[in-house]
Amino acid sequence: MNSISNKQHRVLSGMRPTGALHLGHYHGVLKNWIKLQHEYECYFFVADWHALTTHYEDSQIIQDSVWDMVIDWLAVGVNPGSATLFIQSRVPEHAELHLLLSMMTPLSWLERVPSYKDQQLKLKERDLSTYGFLGYPLLQSADILMYKAGLVPVGEDQVAHVELTREVARRFNHLYGREPGFEQRAEEAVKKMGKKNAKLYNNLRKAYQEQGDAEALDKARALLETQQNITLGDKERLFGYLEGGGRIILPEPESLLTPASKMPGLDGQKMSKSYGNIISLREDPDQVEKKLRTMPTDPARVRKTDPGTPEKCPVWNLHQVYSDEETCHWVQEGCRSAGIGCIECKGPIIDAVRKELEPIHQRAQEFEADHEQVRNIINEGSERARDVAKQTITEVRQVMGLDYS
Ligand code: TRP
Ligand code: SF4
Repeated sequence: MNSISNKQHRVLSGMRPTGALHLGHYHGVLKNWIKLQHEYECYFFVADWHALTTHYEDSQIIQDSVWDMVIDWLAVGVNPGSATLFIQSRVPEHAELHLLLSMMTPLSWLERVPSYKDQQLKLKERDLSTYGFLGYPLLQSADILMYKAGLVPVGEDQVAHVELTREVARRFNHLYGREPGFEQRAEEAVKKMGKKNAKLYNNLRKAYQEQGDAEALDKARALLETQQNITLGDKERLFGYLEGGGRIILPEPESLLTPASKMPGLDGQKMSKSYGNIISLREDPDQVEKKLRTMPTDPARVRKTDPGTPEKCPVWNLHQVYSDEETCHWVQEGCRSAGIGCIECKGPIIDAVRKELEPIHQRAQEFEADHEQVRNIINEGSERARDVAKQTITEVRQVMGLDYS
């Protein structure tokens, strides 16, 4: 069953600082963040500890990438007025939560996360048989649960990590959400909502528990969301009581699958630094032109008079991202009839990419020139994130019996 987050409107996502951001990041992840930041309360962070799990031997790249990455976010339009931007290691509570969760996470759950073995095979040049790398997905769970995020925008490869997070949350709540006298406390909490709301809650709870009425469940959750007069602890009891369990301290998140980026690399494969097929967000215009001019096309077009098939050409993929219908038609016609040359065909793409990058460059330059501002944005974001993190960690310590105050 889908236990809901009491912060369903909260979104959290992280990005590893392991090199320059490129058009693949922009069209895949960042445009999505920019959209989400207007719809939800968003937390976006630089996952520097995650980067360290794979790059512990060449950790300088992390330091070199962190600020560039933040500047790229800002330059494409991630707005620190709407979203909270922070650096993971600036909120050390993530490490504490990771540690505490590690106590109750079965080793087998981590060993069976597909990325564990996949990445070890794929990144053969790195020794990933470390404790930290095995714990990577659990650190991610700590990131997510810390903010009680309801939605986690991730790519396909990360869905298993969110799934693990759900299991970890469920286990945590099962172990630590069972307190003595739970039912009685829950019933007292119901009363605290006031007569009218209490009655409504009880009816909805009954409808859900006796008839499995999912709509009633949603309504009851919505009702709880709006309660101002009850404590956080009581709210958690009431979320749990609704479903017939204990307190829900760490709500289960859901993944919000980022639509696969249509942005191909220069060779037609997925754009990725390790394939050497990227156009970075800071690529200068001449370099953009050069990279696009020299990118491969349909091998059948040896000479300009040889007709080609756009579907066999990575340039066509780019037209699908950047060109209007008319231009696409022109490509299809011209390629198949050998009416246009490949350099000619690339012209509109070169223009489109340069035009797309121009305002990004300009804003990046402004932020480069004003590092103070960038630092302030991150300092403020990290403070804000830390306030939330402290609340969660206090609660976690309490329910685990580590509160000695
Ligand atoms: N593992 C993610 C990636 O490689 C980055 C990440 C770390 C993350 N913590 C997260 C993403 C929490 C979403 C939520 O892309
Ligand atoms: Fe590719 Fe365009 Fe050349 Fe056809 S004309 S092979 S689509 S670059």
